Amino acid sequence: MFEILSNDEIAPLVHRMVVRAPRIAAARKPGQFVIVRHEEGDERIPLTIADAADQAGPLTLIIQAVGQGTKDIVATEGGGGILDVAGPLGMPTEIEKLGRVVCVGGGVGTAVLYPLAKALAGAGNEVVTIIGGRSAPHVILRDELAAFCKQVLCTTEDGSLGVKGFVTAVLKEILEDDARRPAAVYAVGPVPMMAAVSDMTREYAVRTIVSLNPIMVDGTGMCGGCRVTVGGEIKFACVDGPEFDGHAVDFRELASRQNMYKEHQCRLDDQANSPTAGGDK
Ligand code: NAD
Ligand code: FES
Repeated sequence: MFEILSNDEIAPLVHRMVVRAPRIAAARKPGQFVIVRHEEGDERIPLTIADAADQAGPLTLIIQAVGQGTKDIVATEGGGGILDVAGPLGMPTEIEKLGRVVCVGGGVGTAVLYPLAKALAGAGNEVVTIIGGRSAPHVILRDELAAFCKQVLCTTEDGSLGVKGFVTAVLKEILEDDARRPAAVYAVGPVPMMAAVSDMTREYAVRTIVSLNPIMVDGTGMCGGCRVTVGGEIKFACVDGPEFDGHAVDFRELASRQNMYKEHQCRLDDQANSPTAGGDK
């Protein structure tokens, strides 16, 4: 059992959970993730390691309560526990000194972006970060990113914080400016956002890395759940990724696989909420 040291809601339905897992903390590198299982028989949920205080310190996980599994986890108070935390999984981010880089985070994807941006800044890059959400409460980790980024620019769809619109509106301005154009862009968020960022940077020939979160089951490359097509080749996000060249990812296929899963999850939720349902998930 892995002890939950704290559990705070940092945005609507988004929780920051600090979990005691010293061996994972000692081994983890930026870009890697864990797969958690709340209780025996529960679904396995992939979660990025947002931070680790130090090499033996606790792990910070940021969890959006979207399905029953994540809702059960975030309902567990500090002092409670998670049955399994397996990891670290996936390939660590390749951190290079490139000069000026732009990191783009959409909604809760900013949690995945955070360790990446921190490692890029730590390697001596000048990091400008653009983070966006539906409204101000949905924009997360702004102060934490400001601690090491040269600039943190915010967007909201309702205009309640920063520029009104999508993150791509601010990215476009930066790409168009010769003096601000970066050597690379890192983007993490909803699939349509990462597709839009990659389409935009392709026009300016700016290298773009995206972090994908397809459906994951075993996290070992065996089940095929996280299959993605990159540069015409089949890849498994859990072992070959989760980061890939955004200009080579088949986003259309990724979106269609995600929608298939969402429809299935909705049917399961409807069954669970039906008055005739037996209460079992
Ligand atoms: P959201 O749908 O509210 O979008 C957040 C922001 O992303 C928007 O405000 C906008 O700035 C940007 N965005 C969204 N669609 C865009 C588009 N078509 N073009 C340009 N910009 C766009 O996000 P949310 O509800 O906070 O987060 C949930 C989504 O994030 C889910 O789709 C989930 O799968 C994804 N997610 C991805 C990762 C990852 O590792 N890639 C991790 C966690 C969550
Ligand atoms: Fe099963 Fe990646 S999660 S192959």
